[in-house]
Amino acid sequence: MSDATAKALPVLVLNGPNLNMLGKRQPEIYGRETLADVEALCHAEATRLGLAVECFQSNHEGALIDRIQAAREANSGIVINAGAYTHTSVALMDALAAAERPTIELHISNVFKREAFRHHSYISAVSVGVICGFGTHGYALALQAMARILSR
Ligand code: DQA
Repeated sequence: MSDATAKALPVLVLNGPNLNMLGKRQPEIYGRETLADVEALCHAEATRLGLAVECFQSNHEGALIDRIQAAREANSGIVINAGAYTHTSVALMDALAAAERPTIELHISNVFKREAFRHHSYISAVSVGVICGFGTHGYALALQAMARILSR
């Protein structure tokens, strides 16, 4: 473990609306793993990388904003799957900008293969990069990218 990762605060893994329905919700798009499976995957990958993670899910825009504001003091970086708020929420974008923490945007599905309204993201404008289309493995990929960012 490098000094930088040893000192790093936990990475926040944020999941937005309807992601509590993973496993039940459109499994042909989002797979059969549950949110608990995804959070376990995040903890295992973080341990492997010498990071810590905190996971938070909400269906409420304001609750997500409150958690992002807290991340300014409590977290080194943010991995966010904002669900449908990705495509609608200037407020989440503003909260992420104000948090001043490296942010990685994540989608389980390949949003660019889907409806046109999913092709625009407010989150991308305040993110280091975007991972999409790799299923729940994307969470591991995002944490790998975050470990590299935080070790610089
Ligand atoms: C999603 C893609 C969004 O367009 C959608 O609204 C979601 C999930 C994904 O992980 O693929 O809720 O963010």
